[in-house]
Amino acid sequence: MMARVPLLLLVVLGVAAIATAANVDPSSAAAAAPAAAAPPAAAAERSGSSGSQLLMVYSIQRHGARNVLPKSSLLAESEATGGPTLLPQGKRQCRAAGRSFAARYIEPTTCRNTSTCLAPDNGAGGFAYGIVGKPGVGFSNYNVFSNSSALDRTIMSAGAFLSGVFPSSPAAPPTSGAPDTAADEAEAQSALVPVFTVAEHEDWRIRGYTRCPAYERRLADWLLHSPEFAQKSKESAALRERVGKLVPHLNNSLANWWNVYDALNVWRTYGVGEPTPPLDNATFADVVELAYWLETRKMAPALAGNLLGGAIVGDLLGRLEAAERGSSGGQHYRLLSVSSHYNTQLGVLAALQRDEGEQEPHVVDHLWRDRIPALASVLAFELHGSSGGGQLLAVRVVAQNGPAAAWVVVPLPCAQQGDAAEQLAGPGACSLAAFRALAGPRALNSSRAWCDACSNTKVLACRAAAMERQLAEVGLSGESTSPLRRYSSPAMVAAWCLVSVVAAAAAALVAVLATRLVRHRRGAAGAGGGLKTADAEHGQLRPVQQPLQRSVAGGDDGML
Ligand SMILES: *[C@@H]1O[C@H](CO)[C@@H](O)[C@H](O)[C@H]1NC(C)=O
Ligand SMILES: *[C@@H]1O[C@H](CO)[C@@H](O)[C@H](O)[C@H]1NC(C)=O
Repeated sequence: MMARVPLLLLVVLGVAAIATAANVDPSSAAAAAPAAAAPPAAAAERSGSSGSQLLMVYSIQRHGARNVLPKSSLLAESEATGGPTLLPQGKRQCRAAGRSFAARYIEPTTCRNTSTCLAPDNGAGGFAYGIVGKPGVGFSNYNVFSNSSALDRTIMSAGAFLSGVFPSSPAAPPTSGAPDTAADEAEAQSALVPVFTVAEHEDWRIRGYTRCPAYERRLADWLLHSPEFAQKSKESAALRERVGKLVPHLNNSLANWWNVYDALNVWRTYGVGEPTPPLDNATFADVVELAYWLETRKMAPALAGNLLGGAIVGDLLGRLEAAERGSSGGQHYRLLSVSSHYNTQLGVLAALQRDEGEQEPHVVDHLWRDRIPALASVLAFELHGSSGGGQLLAVRVVAQNGPAAAWVVVPLPCAQQGDAAEQLAGPGACSLAAFRALAGPRALNSSRAWCDACSNTKVLACRAAAMERQLAEVGLSGESTSPLRRYSSPAMVAAWCLVSVVAAAAAALVAVLATRLVRHRRGAAGAGGGLKTADAEHGQLRPVQQPLQRSVAGGDDGML
């Protein structure tokens, strides 16, 4: 509930001059996309039934290539506003990912291949994004919702991705000899889809993984005490020693290995950040392997539980429910896009495999078990219905490990081989009911649920929740009287705060005035008393009274 209220419209992204390379122009990317869906992956992710229709897709993307990102071993990042910059290559990656996404979900000639055409709203008959009622416009802010964490790399990635999903003139041919201009032109003409976000330090949903003390405690414990970590640390000592000599300014402990990998990788691949000495390919492959091991273990179901992904899972369930209601006629968001981080993606996958109460995770084999999602990779939840108007709805998860990769299925733990849901939506899918039964207990449906699970006391929503509890303890919210009155909305809490402040100010004002009145009287009485011995008729009251009056008047001026 809470999160819908403070969503700030932060950015309507101008995405001019983003792509500069010929290989991301609309026609070449569109041509490449069907090839990417070639067998065997296409066979693996084919829908079971051509009678299915796609009602909604909820996509969680990783941003594109960025500058170096130093992190502490507990995932904390530097406070610098917006974080490291998305690189031009990163924009291209995201735009290409958007083109591939459009080929799979939007463009009629290609999306049929995988039975994943996201139909625009009834009768709209077009596939462009724009103003409802204009010819050719089937997507608008009423059925497309994009949100992002509040960082340079994700907001910019969201814009680039969406410019690939909804180019204004997908058929425009690249001008040979001037590919940069053609790409820039296409970019400038793309429909601008608004990207919503919340302030970075209040973002408990997409970036909750950076501010979850309960998870940090588990992680610190794992780093310090787990035999698994100690063993890996020993195994990797020689490699770390050797590579550490190349980057002596970096801490080469296993806990800190992300930073060694990131510094080497970003310089080697994109030529930005601090220059690092050359490294042979085999050693670099070992560096990468070790970083993948570390990062995927940190995000493993057994460690992360639902703490890192539960909030997104909660949002997803709400959107699926809205789509379920909408499928019988109403409006709903059909295309939801979350511009995020690999931690967000892995956190969601972890949450769907294990929750708090379980001994054993429902482990499923997926492409990111042992490697972190590639830049601009996409994790998409699809809601399929039967086009014959049947009641069954099914959820399927697919992933693309970077814009050039094939789409593959991420099998859900609730999938039952060959059941009606798989027949409708393809292997690895579950009925919406089964998905809800799986995901419901792992969802953190409100900021309050997240605050409690993570023991966060800093995010504003968590402080409001704590304040509500304190008010309830002193009987101000009527918590115990009626279940209907138990929930105090943030607005009510704010109102209470306002009332308290006004009451306190009024009390203070009364106290000041009363004090002054008393002093005034005493002063008058004192002066009068003094004057009793003097001669009242000589008018000696005045010099005593006047300064007192002036000071009261001065005080009143001050309060006004
Ligand atoms: C390197 O990092 C580890 C883990 O964060 C830390 O325990 C260790 O003290 C650091 N070493 C140095 C020399 O800073
Ligand atoms: C090392 O890898 C790069 C990039 O993958 C490749 O271009 C290069 O040829 C490789 N070098 C050797 C010696 O294998």
